Amino acid sequence: MKKTQVAVLGATGMIGQRFVQLLEDHPYFEIGGMYASERSEGKTLGEVLKVKDFRFKQETLDTKIEVLEPMAIAKRCRAAFSGLPTDVAKDTETALAQEGVAVFSNAASHRMTEDVPLLIPEVNPDHLELVRSQSTFSNGGYIVTNANCSTTGLAVPLQAIHQAFGLRSCFVSTYQAISGAGYPGVPSLDILGNVVPFIKNEEEKMEEEIHKMLGVLKDGRVDLAKFEMIASCARVPVVDGHLESAVLKLEREAPAAEVIKALEAFGPEPQRLKLPTAPVHPIIVRREDNRPQPAADAFAGEPERARGMAVSVGRVRESKGYIKLWLLSHNTLRGGAGGSVLNAELAVAKKLL
Ligand SMILES: NC(=O)c1ccc[n+]([C@@H]2O[C@H](COP(=O)([O-])OP(=O)(O)OC[C@H]3O[C@@H](n4cnc5c(N)ncnc54)[C@H](OP(=O)(O)O)[C@@H]3O)[C@@H](O)[C@H]2O)c1
Repeated sequence: MKKTQVAVLGATGMIGQRFVQLLEDHPYFEIGGMYASERSEGKTLGEVLKVKDFRFKQETLDTKIEVLEPMAIAKRCRAAFSGLPTDVAKDTETALAQEGVAVFSNAASHRMTEDVPLLIPEVNPDHLELVRSQSTFSNGGYIVTNANCSTTGLAVPLQAIHQAFGLRSCFVSTYQAISGAGYPGVPSLDILGNVVPFIKNEEEKMEEEIHKMLGVLKDGRVDLAKFEMIASCARVPVVDGHLESAVLKLEREAPAAEVIKALEAFGPEPQRLKLPTAPVHPIIVRREDNRPQPAADAFAGEPERARGMAVSVGRVRESKGYIKLWLLSHNTLRGGAGGSVLNAELAVAKKLL
């Protein structure tokens, strides 16, 4: 199989460098260029390295960062993986799609646009079809987004439960890692030995995006899911991995054991298609009474390429007619670059790339 040339946008940032990690030796894709702002032009990836838990190849570290210019990228690359800030992503991603580039984005700018899929291949693979309605599709260009990092970790187990029992309400509290704030992120004096009970726009994004992802595609549009969703978000002094506590009211009440069964049976489309970055078990249910924990479970998932792509769920229990559980997912892998790479792999499987 001839590899597709792809661009990494925002290659000096946290998400951009996770893209580079996942695209080194990818079976379908090859990095055709790494792009960022004028501030980074001409620097090598090694000079601006932020991801320190992965050993990049020397030739990757020696690659020079280029200034992002849509027309030049379109000449070299069929697809682009975007780790750009929201304000920059909006026009840049549109311009790339107009130039015929398939864009797989982490940014929030296009997530709620009606004809843009907000995609998690385990949750709503059929939503990918929305790209066919985009005005740029006829020349090969389109935009696919993935959700906010805290919504992604929640959406995977929530869909397993929604499909099995129906959801009436979800009340979620998050304990979010500092890498979720980009680089350099939260000042160390604000977060060391501390918890900050506010993340700008995070609760609003969670409450909005989940209904689109768990919605049903009908007549070319997403019919939003209707359950009640209330989120409270906090930043905690953890490097990687968003931990969340969820309290759920189900349409059809079920004991915890039955909920666990539904979570463990959830192994849908990407696993059936054997997509390279799909974890063998998208949800791992822990039986210990002190798991999941960021230090132990952030990188859950196998095979090696899918490290950090599984969502760990634990302490599933009943309480006064509700189901309570904890969940954990890696924010820059499952909730970031890994999600976009999996979306692009699904696009290949569906012959859209
Ligand atoms: N971190 C997470 O857990 C996470 C999870 C899901 C989604 N996201 C989203 O993913 C995106 C990237 O997040 P991040 O955490 O990787 O941010 P980040 O570390 O701040 O990186 C931002 C990147 O964008 C580049 N950039 C900024 N302005 C630019 C411009 N005018 N032209 C070209 N490039 C420009 C930066 O390049 P320079 O170095 O040259 O400035 C840098 O490479 C954001 O939209 C974020 O909301 C993040």
